[in-house]
Amino acid sequence: MIATPSPSSGGGSGLAGIRGAQDLGGWTSTNNHSGLKCRPRRGPGQLDSRSGQLRRRIAIGNVPNQGVRAPYVNGTEGGAPQAQRAISSREPAAATTNQLADLFERAVPVQTPVVSDIGTPSTRVVASGASAGLRAPALRAPARAPGGRSPPGGRLEELLGSYLSRGHRGRPRPVLLCPGPVLLSAHVMRAVRNTNIGHREPEFSQLLLESAAMLKPVVGIGSADSSYRIAFITGSGTAANEAVLASVGAIGPTLVVSNGEFGERLLATARRHNRDVRELRFAWQEAIDLEKVAEELERRQYHLVVVVHHETSTGMLNPIAAIARLAHRHGALIAVDAISSIGAEVIAVEEWGIDVLTGASGKALSAMPGVGIVVVKGSVLEQSASMPAGPQYLNLHTHCGYMRDHAQTPNTPAVHVFVSLHASLEESTLQGMARVRGVIHARALFARERLTQMGLEYADYPGTNSSVLTCVLLPEYLSFEHLARHLKTRGIVVYNGKGALTDRMFQIGHIGALRKNDTRDALRQVQAVMRQGTQATARPLQFVATERSTRSIS
Ligand SMILES: Cc1ncc(COP(=O)(O)O)c(C=O)c1O
Repeated sequence: MIATPSPSSGGGSGLAGIRGAQDLGGWTSTNNHSGLKCRPRRGPGQLDSRSGQLRRRIAIGNVPNQGVRAPYVNGTEGGAPQAQRAISSREPAAATTNQLADLFERAVPVQTPVVSDIGTPSTRVVASGASAGLRAPALRAPARAPGGRSPPGGRLEELLGSYLSRGHRGRPRPVLLCPGPVLLSAHVMRAVRNTNIGHREPEFSQLLLESAAMLKPVVGIGSADSSYRIAFITGSGTAANEAVLASVGAIGPTLVVSNGEFGERLLATARRHNRDVRELRFAWQEAIDLEKVAEELERRQYHLVVVVHHETSTGMLNPIAAIARLAHRHGALIAVDAISSIGAEVIAVEEWGIDVLTGASGKALSAMPGVGIVVVKGSVLEQSASMPAGPQYLNLHTHCGYMRDHAQTPNTPAVHVFVSLHASLEESTLQGMARVRGVIHARALFARERLTQMGLEYADYPGTNSSVLTCVLLPEYLSFEHLARHLKTRGIVVYNGKGALTDRMFQIGHIGALRKNDTRDALRQVQAVMRQGTQATARPLQFVATERSTRSIS
């Protein structure tokens, strides 16, 4: 499955469209923030590009208004109060640090030295808040460097390092090339900074309803009388999966079809809520064999089939429409984990007949991580309504009930994360989902072409490559630790492979508010590290060995 693309062939089928990529959203020829030629324009029903606020509600199809009319933001046109702008990248560097210090009120989380994933000793926040024993050192007093010289920033700067803010004190701007969390656009950042609302206010209900309405076309819900319901759960994508598996997945025999890390995680979660769970496991990077799925469904009557859409550990897209057809033919429902594909890949919930779909805010939807999304057919939800109580917090019925009856969430939601999701959906809606997906796809094609030119191998699954990320095989002379450490000094963050692929691969993400040149620049840096490595073949590079578990975390 690892392709060694030959330059002449253009790297296999995945690269055939590279010329076409130049037509997609202007990826190669524009220089605005998202790589798109189209910017949200100001005007009636549009975004205010300065404040990031919605000036008037944008027209959204087929959403019951439920009588909530107020604009959802309460910031002022002129911008947020001083304290809210503490981390603005426009502030002079010193002011930023001082304002952060004010914000933290002289308290700093306890830190312990740890060996980081990339092999260098670093500082990790192990806990925060009163229970973690907040202490109050003088934040503005710069920590002493060995030899008695003070580093340019204070403790916070030391702590946050290159993540602090873009270009801070000459540091490179952070570029997140991991498949979530992702870079946030200026519009999303502004919206979060300028919006403080209470979650029991009508404005927040409006925000939820608008978010649900904007999400529908993203997942392929077009019909006005659609029976699909949408719940937003504060938590990561796993929270959405668990809410589904604890309700719909607890009713009857469940089959989990897996071919990677995230399919295997679904199995583990399903088994926590249901004893009657079987697994149809394929090797990582192996395509799901539909005949085997059909055989298993004939062998046994299942209530639910569960499968991942984009297996993030390998970069492979699974054939959801075909699996859904098989499941339905055998009287089973289908639940799909689309956590990393939602916003980047075509998803056609209605057309494919998906019964339940899960997603997350902080990946291809380009918002902050922290909202799990469930899209579920009303009839499927009703079937599981008679189930014993189930979990308290991750109760899908409670979440859907609150959304339907009050346009609210049952508990205090991560309000600002919800604001970021609303803002990013707004941006995508204005740009058009096809265009947004096209840009992500073009980034992927561009990266794969460059990798080919660099002589690097990457995972290639003709016809089922995702656009979300590219899994690149590390050359033998290069360790992930060394590569990641070098990239990090340039502000670039990449993750390594998972499971059996840990340390053999690294991933380059194509999602989030990447700028036009981010992928190109990152690959240049990879090339620079490769050059060092090949020059040192006579005297192999010595890398710090780190202990790592065979199972890596996302
Ligand atoms: C396909 C898939 N499912 C589930 C998860 C878990 O999501 P989270 O880490 O947001 O809980 C991920 C995370 O990358 C994923 O890619």
